[in-house]
This record gives sequence, structure tokens and C-alpha cells, in this order.
Amino acid sequence: MINIKSDREIELLKEAGRLTYLTHLEVKKHIKVGVTTNELDKAAADFIKSQGCTSSFLNYNGYPKSICVSVNDEVVHGIPSNRKLKEGDIVSVDIGVCYKGYHGDSAWTYPVGKVSDDKLYLMEHTQKALYAGLEQAKPGNRLGDICSAIGTYAKDHKLGIVRELVGHGVGTKLHEDPEIPNYGVKGTGPVLKKGMVLAIEPMLNLGGDAVVMLDDDWTIVTEDYSPSAHFEHTVVITDDGYEILTLTRGD
Ligand code: MF3
Ligand code: CO
Repeated sequence: MINIKSDREIELLKEAGRLTYLTHLEVKKHIKVGVTTNELDKAAADFIKSQGCTSSFLNYNGYPKSICVSVNDEVVHGIPSNRKLKEGDIVSVDIGVCYKGYHGDSAWTYPVGKVSDDKLYLMEHTQKALYAGLEQAKPGNRLGDICSAIGTYAKDHKLGIVRELVGHGVGTKLHEDPEIPNYGVKGTGPVLKKGMVLAIEPMLNLGGDAVVMLDDDWTIVTEDYSPSAHFEHTVVITDDGYEILTLTRGD
């Protein structure tokens, strides 16, 4: 069941989204050659705590850290460690913040120093795939319209689509109905309604679609070792479209 949020709940989700965005800004400041992914985790954990909030990911199904940091061929759920970022890496940072029981969820992929043109292409078009999906986020459209727009954009740009992981509803639980695959068929699935809160999150690869899980039981990597990018926003469906919750006004 896809629940419709009340105005009061949307206000709380907006604050959770805003704090998620501010945490991203904090982490972004630390992304440079030589920093460890643990240091990024600490920057996020300290900031989230300073705001009186908690990480949505810490202890989620036993997840051991506050954020996910996935480098190069790591798609998602990279566990922060002593790994140092190197010139030419791309790094996906996924952050969830819980404010008064409501979650924000957002991911962004950043270059470390100067990166190759093909990695820049991957990042540019994964971000644009997110916005192609969001263009379809309005009342009366169907969920499949969002999924199909992302999948078509990815295909048109010859990027691999991760099929095992999906976007999702967001509320008092980090993952609520519906599941939102990054491919699909226009005109199918549930009708979108004002007050639905959705996390849309294309995960696209420079190579094929296939992914595998590492022995740590968390990190998802591309099977062909190709780089992967991840862009995610939590949005609310409004009267005539959508509003991004994981930004602040003016961004
Ligand atoms: N951020 C993931 C998502 O976008 C969920 C990560 S849960 C964790 O849905 F436990 F792996 F952190
Ligand atoms: Co998500």
C-alpha cells in the first residue's frame, strides 16, 4: 500500500530531507585525494548528531556505519573503511537522516580530482536520468512512467541499468511501498497522487547491467568492474508535479 502523507508529515519529511542535504554539503567538503571513506563517515555522523538527529542507515538490518560510500565499480552500500580516495576515483555518497521519526534519503556521485571523460559522461547522464524520471512525477501519471523514463534515458545513453536495486517510498520507514525500478513500461503501475513521498534513485553503469555482492554481505559491485554512478532524491508529489525534499530552498 502506498500511503499518502498528511501536511504535518510532509513538514517533518521536509525537515528530514533538508538535514540530509546539509549532511551531503558537509561530506562534500571533505572529498579529496587521500581522505579515507571512514573520515567521510565521521564527518556525516558528527554533523547528524550535532543536529539532534540519527542516521537512517546505522544499524539498518545491521548496517555498521552512518553513510554508504561506494567507489568506482562499487554501485551502492560500500562500507566506510580505511580506503583512501585516489585521483580519478568517483565516489557515491548515500545519506539518510531521521528527524522525529521521519526519513530523508539522497545519494550523489562526486569526482575525486580530475577524472576520465567516460566517468564524467557516466555521472552527467546518471544525474540526467534522475531528472528524466522526476519529470514524470506528477498526479495522474503512473509509476511506470517514471521507471520507463529513467530506463529509456539510460538505454539511449548506452549505460547499464542495475535491476536488482530499486527506489522506494519514504516515510516513518526508510523503505516503504512502492518499489521503483529504474526501468519499466509507460502507462502501467499505480497512479501517482498528491502526498506520496518517493525516493527515485537510478544506479547506472558504464558497462553491463550485472552486479554482484561482495563477501562483506553489503557492498554491491559491477560484475564487469565498470564504474557505476548513483543519484537519488526524495520527492513529494504536489498538485501539479513534485518538490524535491532533499535540497534547500534556492538550490
Ligand atoms: N540508501 C539506500 C537506499 O537508497 C539504503 C541503504 S541502507 C544501508 O535505499 F543499510 F545499506 F545503509
Ligand atoms: Co533510497
